[in-house]
Amino acid sequence: MSHSSDHGGNIFDVARQLCAAPSEIADFSASINPLGLSPQVKSTIIEALDSLIHYPDINSSGLKQALADYHDLPPENLVIANGSTELIYQLPALLQGRHALIISPSFSEYLHALKQHQWEVDHFLLSPADNFQLDFKSLEQTLYKGYDALYLCNPANPGGTLYPRQVIEQILSLCDVSGTFLVLDEAFMDFCEEASAKHFIVGQSNCIVLRSMTKFFGIPGLRLGYSISNNSLAEQLDTRCVPWSVNTLAQVAGVAALNDTEHNRRTIEYVQRERFFLSEKLSEFSQLEVYPAAANFLLIEITGKMTSSDLKNDLLKQRIMIRDCSNFKGLSRHFFRIAVRTTEENRRLLAALENIVN
Ligand SMILES: Cc1ncc(COP(=O)(O)O)c(C=O)c1O
Repeated sequence: MSHSSDHGGNIFDVARQLCAAPSEIADFSASINPLGLSPQVKSTIIEALDSLIHYPDINSSGLKQALADYHDLPPENLVIANGSTELIYQLPALLQGRHALIISPSFSEYLHALKQHQWEVDHFLLSPADNFQLDFKSLEQTLYKGYDALYLCNPANPGGTLYPRQVIEQILSLCDVSGTFLVLDEAFMDFCEEASAKHFIVGQSNCIVLRSMTKFFGIPGLRLGYSISNNSLAEQLDTRCVPWSVNTLAQVAGVAALNDTEHNRRTIEYVQRERFFLSEKLSEFSQLEVYPAAANFLLIEITGKMTSSDLKNDLLKQRIMIRDCSNFKGLSRHFFRIAVRTTEENRRLLAALENIVN
């Protein structure tokens, strides 16, 4: 399977197919900050253009310190990368195990990265019928089979569920007992930072937190992500990353993004308000079931006959992209995901759905 067929957000491909400009398409398929990037990030990038004649700072020192201040953690606990995807692809080699368990449905790149390193992979399936809640007893019994690594995304993508810190602590205790390494993907945690496990995992040797700067800070095209872990693991992971993989513009943009507290505060407020609005309006559709969500996207099930692929194609005719979720392990042909976009775009989607679904 090609990378593009496995993800949302391939707006350039879709624009070519529709003979449209990307700006004419409302992209609900990738979950990116609807307010876009901060104006301070934009001006910082422009000011930094002349410094492209030099290699980037190979240690991303400025950004590392800014992230350390932002999270109140020592810089030694951080590894900065070309999107968290770079780290997802480095981890299987570093962990040197053979058998992984992925709490699913979840981000497909965990599986692809593990397979590249000849890991065997099983899925611990969560059910939409239970709102993707975790059954500890069942997870505990499954871990006894002897898994080297457990992958969990919090808040879950595409499910949207946020597992509270106590739940993560409990999972980590199960991992301690079973000798399993926990890979905790907090790609969307900036939307609900209080729930992050970042502070209690830095003292552990069997856990790493992955963070993405592409979603909340609205810079997927720049590629920026990082990990939080104990020092020793951070050092080992750092030496595996490709030298200069974090370019100069991404480094300065990252610092500016963290410093624009006003834009970040507005983002949280705006996304919460629009998510609530979308969720309420969509719940009024008799053929749609909306799942509870904590970040900037919603998972929706079509309870009627229509498939998510049909819906995706119908919406594309109106230049609206959604994420057909039928290729996620554990979801049927009736699930789709939408990003929380601007008020105007959200209304456009609701009007289009009104015509197609009702
Ligand atoms: C759950 C999850 N983790 C990680 C990533 C990768 O993000 P990045 O852009 O930082 O590589 C994504 C991207 O869609 C994601 O959905």
